[in-house]
Amino acid sequence: MSLHPLNLAIVGLGNVGTGVAKILTEHPDRITRRAGRPIVIRRAVVRNLDKPRDIKLPPGVLTNDLEAVINDPEIQIACELMGGLHPAREVILALLEAGKDVVTANKALLHEHGDEIFACARRCGRTVAFEAAVAGGIPIIATVGQSMAANQIIGIQAILNGTSNYILSEMLLRQQTYATALKGAQDLGYAEADPTLDVNGTDAAQKLGILAQLSFGAKVPTANFHVSGIDKLEQTDIKYATDLGYTIKLLASAKLIGDRLQMSVRPTLVRKDRPLAQIHGPFNAILLDGDVVGSTWYSGRGAGQLPTASAVTADIIDLAIGRAQLTFSRLELWDDGNAIGVLPAAETASRFYLRLNVEDRPHVMADVTDILGRHEISLSSVIQPEAPEVEANATTPTVPLIIMTHRTTSGQLAAAEQELDRLPTVKRPRVVLAVAD
Ligand SMILES: NC(=O)c1ccc[n+]([C@@H]2O[C@H](COP(=O)([O-])OP(=O)(O)OC[C@H]3O[C@@H](n4cnc5c(N)ncnc54)[C@H](OP(=O)(O)O)[C@@H]3O)[C@@H](O)[C@H]2O)c1
Repeated sequence: MSLHPLNLAIVGLGNVGTGVAKILTEHPDRITRRAGRPIVIRRAVVRNLDKPRDIKLPPGVLTNDLEAVINDPEIQIACELMGGLHPAREVILALLEAGKDVVTANKALLHEHGDEIFACARRCGRTVAFEAAVAGGIPIIATVGQSMAANQIIGIQAILNGTSNYILSEMLLRQQTYATALKGAQDLGYAEADPTLDVNGTDAAQKLGILAQLSFGAKVPTANFHVSGIDKLEQTDIKYATDLGYTIKLLASAKLIGDRLQMSVRPTLVRKDRPLAQIHGPFNAILLDGDVVGSTWYSGRGAGQLPTASAVTADIIDLAIGRAQLTFSRLELWDDGNAIGVLPAAETASRFYLRLNVEDRPHVMADVTDILGRHEISLSSVIQPEAPEVEANATTPTVPLIIMTHRTTSGQLAAAEQELDRLPTVKRPRVVLAVAD
């Protein structure tokens, strides 16, 4: 144990930065024991020095001068906890160039500029640790990067966005509408004022991209796979899925098929008895399949001040004892030699749930099944609730037609949908959801 302290800078003392400062100052003995020496917060950089803070730091530590970190040779590790793409990218590059190892929780930044940041770290002989960037408090980066080292990962199925999972849980357990559940998530601080990236699948897709890179060595921009969110889901689909024995989850999925990768983020029907279906509230969960170990399972808090700070602090300790450097040097990260290609979205295969809104007339069902049949889509079950009685001269009512298909490709289904659109008896809206294996 060395008494020589390790000097740290926290760049961004907001929600997560404050959590890191709290852990370090409230548990100094534990941290010193595990890091082999005391870890001292030498600087905490913020935008606004006058803002009230939920933590008291020694005089002189709080600053709005980033240069005070970059130019201080005594600072060995800096945590980028500002968020956003700019100036976070420039700040991390400057910190690496200045000889500091960097910890970041910024998945959006790694997704956009990870290749540049990792290349810069390697050039400078430094390390970037990013456990908190995926699934917050769940140690999934260490698991993929270290603990699964004997395996080729062959499949990932995950709930990676806690906000969406909270909303889906409220829609299922309290029969709330999407709008009410979203408002509840915002009131509880689970959703941002602008929740777009959480509910449209982008946040989960960026995290899946990082996991896929680590697991398969494949760099997959979100534009190269199917990404959709929960923002169009209706209570009626939650109910039909339940009747069919399923729960709808925003599922992030990556599967190795031969030498190609099938990836997607989309609302998916998961059988009720599967562990992923039972994760409710603002939690994350990951099912990881290794070719040697088989299925392994991780769940916990995917965001929030202390869970995220727990992961950041673990990275700081790993840097202090040299473990993060070892892992980083062995990760074949942003290599351009993409050994594994990505299956085009149209070729990805799944079972599907279809909700059509059809006129209650003779032959409609036959017309629909005929179109699906011609596209070689076979049906595993069909539900058509009875239409209400109507006056003889009233306009023809529409009724929902719920179809569960056997396995087919997204391309075949899209072609069938085009034909369905031409049937005058099939009206909008049409809902298509994937069904998990
Ligand atoms: N919150 C979570 O649960 C969570 C979970 C996983 C990952 N993350 C990631 O963690 C990172 C931080 O998130 P957060 O929720 O802690 O953010 P936050 O509460 O908004 O805090 C951001 C901090 O950065 C400072 N800052 C922003 N721009 C700056 C600039 N140009 N110069 C100096 N300081 C600047 C802010 O200063 P002021 O305080 O003066 O405004 C604030 O202290 C993000 O990348 C986020 O994606 C967060």
